Amino acid sequence: MTPLETALAGLWLMLPALIPNSAAVIWGGGTPMDFGRSWRGKRILGDGKTWRGFVGGALTGTAFGIFQIWLASALEAEPGWGFGDWPVSLCVVLSLSFGSMLGDSAGSFVKRRLGRGRGSKTPGLDQYSFVLGAIVLVLVFQQTWFRAHYIEGDGIYGLALFLVVVPVLHRVANIIGYKMGKKNVPW
Ligand code: CTP
Ligand code: MG
Repeated sequence: MTPLETALAGLWLMLPALIPNSAAVIWGGGTPMDFGRSWRGKRILGDGKTWRGFVGGALTGTAFGIFQIWLASALEAEPGWGFGDWPVSLCVVLSLSFGSMLGDSAGSFVKRRLGRGRGSKTPGLDQYSFVLGAIVLVLVFQQTWFRAHYIEGDGIYGLALFLVVVPVLHRVANIIGYKMGKKNVPW
């Protein structure tokens, strides 16, 4: 694959980590993950982290990842465009999607410890906590796959492209969520 193809494939393969965040906005509501509890006078996670959002978001990312696995096999795509052989593929997709929501929750945990309320703007943390969570989980469970796609060869271009587009896509998704009345603030 050319460096450009590798970069685009890197972006494509990160979609199961990218989708959960936006999907959580649509699924969100109901019981908060911290059940309303506080720690040292501040909410553990806050009302913006709900079970429905977590599970719905992660499963939407997983479902899209399974579609990608199917598509790669149906089109007989090069290995560079895939999540690897079964069952590695499913493990990668689950790590990316659940890792994304775990990272997002961890980000809110940090925000609350910093004394910042739900929905407050915290540049960096807002855009990258889910990225970090997804990468950490995939490194724990499928390090070989991650290295092959994002470190070795031209893989680093895919990682760089992903890190650049994340804040842009995050902003666009949040403006859409705001217009839909699903979010109180457009960020
Ligand atoms: N959401 C949810 N459950 C999650 C994650 C997100 O219900 N686990 C929904 C909530 O309605 C949330 C919205 O998606 O308000 C946007 O997510 P996010 O920006 O991560 O939450 P914030 O409201 O900004 O809260 P925080 O300050 O904790 O990030
Ligand atoms: Mg937010």
